[in-house]
Amino acid sequence: MIIDGKQAAAQLRVAIAQGVTALKESKGITPSLTVVLVGEDPASQVYVRNKAKQTTEVGMISNEIRLPVSCSQAELLSQLSSLNNDPSVHGILVQLPLPKHIDESVVISAIRPEKDVDGFHAMNSGRLLNGESGALVPCTPQGCIILAKQHLGDDLSGKHAVVIGRSNIVGKPVALLLLQENCTVTIAHSRTKNLAQVCQQADILIAAVGRAEFVQADWVKKGATVIDVGINRIEDAVTGKMKLVGDVDYAAVSDVCGAITPVPGGVGPMTIACLLKNTLEAAKLYG
Ligand code: GUN
Repeated sequence: MIIDGKQAAAQLRVAIAQGVTALKESKGITPSLTVVLVGEDPASQVYVRNKAKQTTEVGMISNEIRLPVSCSQAELLSQLSSLNNDPSVHGILVQLPLPKHIDESVVISAIRPEKDVDGFHAMNSGRLLNGESGALVPCTPQGCIILAKQHLGDDLSGKHAVVIGRSNIVGKPVALLLLQENCTVTIAHSRTKNLAQVCQQADILIAAVGRAEFVQADWVKKGATVIDVGINRIEDAVTGKMKLVGDVDYAAVSDVCGAITPVPGGVGPMTIACLLKNTLEAAKLYG
């Protein structure tokens, strides 16, 4: 079975749009999201354009701040300080990656946790770790859980989840969310020994390594749910054209697994939908 992330994201956006309308009516608050883009990375520009379009489509206010690649860290921090202090801004997202001369961790720490719709600030990751309420949770991991539940139902208790990848953006937070869902969680990474055997244990396999078609069919248990977080651009062996593929060998793994998210059209669309969900949440909690 193919888990359709495009459809799940569209469904989530309908619910968010209803939430936005309700918040406008009950409190007179229109959620607003400001995206800060430094430099001209083409992939980032595409993301930012999509974010802006979908933000307005659900009835929120979308703002964009574009800074030149030469922008200093101090200038960026000063911009963030204004946004932190502007009560009309509910969500702030600084598009990553940032140019080399800017320290990402300093920038992330400078965003007010209540407006950190990426959920990357230590206050939010700490709240997630401790299982406290009020955390803004990273978007891609939230999307992974929604898609896994789409196939498995709401109760993931006792399932063995294997996460390949330990990034702060996906691997670590998705592992914590799976633990919160009462899964038995293994985090595998580049130094894991016998990776194939580890993955074979998985009822839920989350691939977030950033290596094209890395996960092979014989690593996957029959009937497993496979969530592919990868977005890799490679040349098609037949046509010679560039194409997007995930971290999973989709064609081969599809024959073994119970369900799989495609790339594109799987986790990707869910990330932006969850960003809108976080913006609505921030506006509701702190607006
Ligand atoms: N660049 C790629 N993915 C992301 C994301 O989820 N958040 C931010 N801020 N930048 C990204």
